[in-house]
Amino acid sequence: MSAKTIGYVGLGIMGMPMAKNLVDAGYPVVGHNRSRDPVDELVEYGGEGAGTPREAAAKADVVITCLPDSETVEEVVLGDDGVADGLDDGEAVIDMSTISPPVAEALADRLVQKGIHFMDAPVSGGESGAIEGTLSIMVGGDEDVVDDHNDILETLGETITHCGESGTGQITKACNQLVVSGMIEVVAEGFVFAHQAGADLDAVYDAISGGSCRGFVMDHHGTHMLDGDHEPGFYSSYMYKDLSYAVEAAKEYGAPVPTTAVTHELYKSTIESGYGQEKNTAVIKVLENMAGGIDVGGDS
Ligand SMILES: NC(=O)c1ccc[n+]([C@@H]2O[C@H](COP(=O)([O-])OP(=O)(O)OC[C@H]3O[C@@H](n4cnc5c(N)ncnc54)[C@H](OP(=O)(O)O)[C@@H]3O)[C@@H](O)[C@H]2O)c1
Repeated sequence: MSAKTIGYVGLGIMGMPMAKNLVDAGYPVVGHNRSRDPVDELVEYGGEGAGTPREAAAKADVVITCLPDSETVEEVVLGDDGVADGLDDGEAVIDMSTISPPVAEALADRLVQKGIHFMDAPVSGGESGAIEGTLSIMVGGDEDVVDDHNDILETLGETITHCGESGTGQITKACNQLVVSGMIEVVAEGFVFAHQAGADLDAVYDAISGGSCRGFVMDHHGTHMLDGDHEPGFYSSYMYKDLSYAVEAAKEYGAPVPTTAVTHELYKSTIESGYGQEKNTAVIKVLENMAGGIDVGGDS
């Protein structure tokens, strides 16, 4: 059986390396992006370009979207010249963006009415995970449909979890974001605390990252904070967006999320202070300002 042709819409920090990994794995890939340069880059890499989401979809068996937010995904999939207009009956959309869980469920319903399958398949693992093909992918959708597309998912990630029906991938991702954002924020608090106490920050890092604080957030985000390196990666504005979805969904599901509500506010301040396009570690700058304008990482 020949490889499925994949339409890929949204060739940004995450989408571009994922699309390239699909090309490397032998899939024909037809890419579309709002700005043209990333499309040209994909064509140079061995893909094909498309002028609209509909054109990419018309040439494909399955379309992957990796876009900023719920509104953009709805527009690209269901809007004029959208993906749904280009796909045939029985073909599929895999949305790898982080969007609101209820919006993912509604999208699935709308597409089913058009005879198109939908999987919400948000990811965790960051830009490095996208480049290395080691992402954790959280998939919501019909089991048979997910099984049919496992070859694609396994090209992009290392941990593929079928979480349940449509929307459950985004519920899982919201859970991921509320956990990881709290961890990032509290690592920042720890470093600001140590700085204010006059401690040697390198010694603090070495000691606590070797003990019960050991882990990806301390190693990765903690190091970036101490180095004053807030290059994205993952924009602070996207973390705020993800937490907005999580807090909103928590209200709907009746889940108390008091710590996430505070983290959400701190990311709002991160954006309002002008750091929205910096990595999600820039939340430490809000705490630095609250401490009177200190500079833990020597980056300002
Ligand atoms: N970065 C991470 O570490 C990470 C990790 C996990 C999940 N995510 C999620 O993955 C998604 C993408 O993140 P990212 O970091 O790759 O974002 P990004 O770099 O901003 O990429 C988004 C891409 O979508 C394109 N786009 C925007 N609107 C469009 C439209 N209407 N039609 C076609 N293309 C459009 C943008 O094009 P332009 O060039 O015109 O802006 C850009 O290339 C987000 O939902 C994010 O929350 C990101």
